[in-house]
Amino acid sequence: MTGARAAIDGIPTEGLPPGRSHTWHRGSTPASTIGPWLPEGDLGTALAEGLARVEAALTAAVGSEHPFVREAAGHLMAAGGKRFRPMLALLTAQLGAPDRPQVTQAAVVCELTHLATLYHDDVMDEAAVRRGAPSANSRWSNSVAILTGDLLFARASDLVADLGPDAVRIQARTFERLVTGQIRETVGPQPGEDPVAHHLAVLADKTGSLVATSARFGAEFAGVDESLVGALTAFGEEVGVAFQLSDDLLDIVSEVSTSGKAAGTDLREGIATLPVLYALAGDDPADARLRELVSAPVTDPEDHAEALALLRSSAALSRATGVLREYADRARAQLAAVPAGDVRDALSALCDYVVTRTS
Ligand code: IPE
Ligand code: IPE
Ligand code: MG
Ligand code: MG
Repeated sequence: MTGARAAIDGIPTEGLPPGRSHTWHRGSTPASTIGPWLPEGDLGTALAEGLARVEAALTAAVGSEHPFVREAAGHLMAAGGKRFRPMLALLTAQLGAPDRPQVTQAAVVCELTHLATLYHDDVMDEAAVRRGAPSANSRWSNSVAILTGDLLFARASDLVADLGPDAVRIQARTFERLVTGQIRETVGPQPGEDPVAHHLAVLADKTGSLVATSARFGAEFAGVDESLVGALTAFGEEVGVAFQLSDDLLDIVSEVSTSGKAAGTDLREGIATLPVLYALAGDDPADARLRELVSAPVTDPEDHAEALALLRSSAALSRATGVLREYADRARAQLAAVPAGDVRDALSALCDYVVTRTS
């Protein structure tokens, strides 16, 4: 298949590894769960069409001439996922010229970068399930999951190269922030560092960074005015943290996980998310048992059920929900710079959704 790489609507293509093609299969059905925050009508149709282009390009981007590599690299992409980052890129692009091929390519770069980090994150978190499917580490091995994540990152780098050196630098710096967040989460706060401030900085780096870049890339490659791109990037950063906070709250509040991940995983793995940090920092005697339980990974099934129940009714959980609202409100404040219309309404609905999906 060398040389068979088809041009993506005018983006120059060269040197694609054998076995891959960027041909878009127009009209293919998106695998995304369209979130309830997404609009209907013309905007919804445009986004669905954009997402179909993203899906086809993603499918091409995770291909390989080697059957096993193809299976491993395609595993999580095929398992589903919300496609939140490409969707956000497509949405901000609607403020400019959304049909430019670079918009699709930028959205694909964001999802591939995200995918790569999921392969690695599941190794780090020893997660068994991802997107409702066995994680790559549990299906094969840590080595396969790590190397497949690397491969997907290489594919993202290949695609972003088509978008020019500025985009390469932005993606590199985004990934640097993301990985810095993952490292700082792994080692925890330094002596004397406030655990909550550390945690929120970690969330901004590990999640806010790539969501911000998704919002930025969509707008930038659609030719949106620079000052508006700045506001949309800031929006992405705030809503990205809110999204991660709500994901962490869902891990506690959802009875049966609807996220494609096992419920209560963070507690089991000893990952202290915001409600747990608040519980640990408090001195309310009512929370003494909770503090005892969550001060280490909660592996015993009875302890796990008890810790989840105590957390669900705790003041610590309400306090963390308050912080989630603050991030969502700060994201919404950035929308003052966006012209009134259906795109701004959809971005505002996203701010509501990240809060309401946990309740
Ligand atoms: C998972 O991201 C990691 C977090 C930032 C919470 P998503 O919740 O976007 O995962 P997928 O892409 O839908 O699987
Ligand atoms: C996911 O982080 C990976 C990144 C955001 C880089 P988490 O470990 O917090 O999320 P889940 O719960 O596994 O999706
Ligand atoms: Mg994880
Ligand atoms: Mg993690």
